[in-house]
Amino acid sequence: KGDVKHLYTVVVLGASGDLAKKKTFPALFGLYKNKYLDQKTHIIGYARTKMDQATFEGHVSKYIKIKTEEDKAALSQFLKLCSYQDGQYDKDQDFQVLEKEIQDVEKTSGATARLFYMALPPSVFIPVATSLKKNNYRKGVVTRLIVEKPFGMDLDSSRKLAKELGALFTEEEIYRIDHYLGKEMVKNLMILRFANVIFGSVWNRHSIDNIQITFKEKIGTEGRGGYFDEFGIIRDVMQNHLLQILTLVAMEPPVSLGAEDVRDEKVKVLRVIPPIEKEDVLLGQYGKSVDGKEPGYLDDKTVPKGSKTPTYAAATLYIHNERWSGVPFVLKCGKALDQQKTEIRIQFKDVSGSLFTNLSRNEIVIRVQPNEAVYVKMMNKEPGLGMKTIISDLDLSYSSRFNDSVIPEAYESLILDALNEDHSNFVRDDELDAAWKIFTPILKTIDQGEIDPTVYAFGSRGPEGVSEFVAKHGYSRGQQEYVWPQHSE
Ligand code: BG6
Repeated sequence: KGDVKHLYTVVVLGASGDLAKKKTFPALFGLYKNKYLDQKTHIIGYARTKMDQATFEGHVSKYIKIKTEEDKAALSQFLKLCSYQDGQYDKDQDFQVLEKEIQDVEKTSGATARLFYMALPPSVFIPVATSLKKNNYRKGVVTRLIVEKPFGMDLDSSRKLAKELGALFTEEEIYRIDHYLGKEMVKNLMILRFANVIFGSVWNRHSIDNIQITFKEKIGTEGRGGYFDEFGIIRDVMQNHLLQILTLVAMEPPVSLGAEDVRDEKVKVLRVIPPIEKEDVLLGQYGKSVDGKEPGYLDDKTVPKGSKTPTYAAATLYIHNERWSGVPFVLKCGKALDQQKTEIRIQFKDVSGSLFTNLSRNEIVIRVQPNEAVYVKMMNKEPGLGMKTIISDLDLSYSSRFNDSVIPEAYESLILDALNEDHSNFVRDDELDAAWKIFTPILKTIDQGEIDPTVYAFGSRGPEGVSEFVAKHGYSRGQQEYVWPQHSE
């Protein structure tokens, strides 16, 4: 399956951490089980923690879901291919031990390529890349590096990081992951837009009034407060995941599906978005739940006292080009909210004329997660005598339409892309630069404490003022009540 050109040895750096346990190893196992990963691929975990093989196996299989006897057998085979080595992140000696291990593995498996997956905190990012280049980089051996965000804190730090990394590895060797680009419905955007005349021809400022891209989570920071407080929700989710979705919604059709053609178009969109203005931002921070059972953000012991870091943000961006001039793109994201969902909502303009009353606007909603779906809200005649209008929908819900299909995990899809040497769903250096230009000024204002976040209760819909904010930026609730029938909460 797949058309992976090389046989890789995969090295997961930061193998004792959360990301490796929750995402990287389960994704590698998923690929192995479904035979997308060559069955001879070895995986070496590397981190500072000392662990024996049994503890390591327990750690990496903790989040792997076993449903059948077959899964169980596959896992036991998979674990035979996994080994662990502890070492410091800046000691050549330790990376030479790793090199010896890689070479031993290559001798038995016949691997000719190396994939280094950096599931690491930003502080050790460059030390590890430097050590790898010095000790584990061989001429003639294909070497790839998958790196995880955060890619800096702002434009300057991102450029510094890019320069340091660029001195060690080429752009072709680097894969910057934004896991939202591996999600099924995000990958569907190009097909929806460019393979459907009915959508393609209305996808512009003449028909569309505003676009909402929403990310909601029920969970709070849950012990990640230390990391989170330094970054805040804009750097954690909006500047990357939501902005990536925006570029795919807004870009012009690429010349081809080739990685550089797609990324060229994404960069073009980013470059015509001016920096976000202070009045186009609304910030929130969660407090205790109404019943007092769930802790507020500031109750997290890892969060500094009196922190003003936002856990909720809404921001409106404008794209200054022929297609989108004047159309607000409202990005909203928050933790500790009433529900978990990510969706893209494209709201069309009001119908002209006054033939009918009691109308709501058309909307195309792309539900990214959970319950993947595309549905179109439309007006219909209420069945029966008379000519009353009623709001209804055309609903492509995956659970009923594609109920035999398994939707792959985002990380599976992206690791497979990297093994296939396909960069299209990874972030290019100039794309990152353009993204930071949009967000850096407002982030500076926020970091200087110039915008006070509004406190909202854990488990609520977000800070007061969200409805007014979206209304100010064009969103209309319409005149008829509507609840998507598949809505589960
Ligand atoms: C990560 C953020 O990038 O994305 C987390 O750091 C967030 O704070 C996560 O929870 C959301 O990803 P998903 O795939 O669970 O929607």
